[in-house]
Amino acid sequence: PAIRPLVAGNWKMFGLRSALAQIERLRALLAANPPGADCAICPPFTLIDAAIKITAGSAIAIGAQDCHSADEGAHTGDIAAPMLADLGVRHVIIGHSERRTDHGEGDSLVMAKACAAHKAGLSAIICVGETLAQRDAGAALDIVIKQLEGSVPAKANAANSIIAYEPVWAIGTGRTPQTDDIAQMHQAIRSYLTNRFEDGGSMRILYGGSVKPKNAGELMSVAHVNGALVGGASLDSGDFNAILDAY
Ligand code: G3H
Repeated sequence: PAIRPLVAGNWKMFGLRSALAQIERLRALLAANPPGADCAICPPFTLIDAAIKITAGSAIAIGAQDCHSADEGAHTGDIAAPMLADLGVRHVIIGHSERRTDHGEGDSLVMAKACAAHKAGLSAIICVGETLAQRDAGAALDIVIKQLEGSVPAKANAANSIIAYEPVWAIGTGRTPQTDDIAQMHQAIRSYLTNRFEDGGSMRILYGGSVKPKNAGELMSVAHVNGALVGGASLDSGDFNAILDAY
């Protein structure tokens, strides 16, 4: 069966309460014009509870941008996966390159967080991607496969895990890889998943990095691109809806 795509918006560290109006608007846009893809918004933790109330009964799922690897504990400032599940969160982004860079998160911590997400009943959006230096050195495929090996838990399946391929150099830069390079990477990720997991052929593989309304159609037509992880363009409900319209 065909894989239903997912378009997920990652708001990163943007959005005061006034930004909830974007989610209300998106809800109205999608009600008028139901998308051909699943849709999720991952706002900052501070807006999650309100966002879940606004989107109740709609096509919009709410996700978080990180969780701790433990269920609870003395970890000042951290948020545990069961706390997110308790609010009605459905997805959690794990191992985003900004977490890997800003907080030194490595593959083993990413895997532990993904396990915590699974245990709490959340779907983990596990991020991988090479830097520009790694791509220029011809190492992109090897790097990404190594990240998958280290970051994706053994119990991952199509219901609890989504892979997001985000070339670090394409994030927030307005640059995207050549279509052929995306196709090659997504094919490699698909082969890896199919070899390792029983339902690896059905796991969603998102592309992320400067996805905009104007390039969404082309990106989404690439084989094994099963949706998008959208940063900047997800902050505006009109842009995000236009990206969803590419499906
Ligand atoms: O998680 C989203 C990505 O980091 C992409 O961000 O669309 O602003 O390039 P961007």
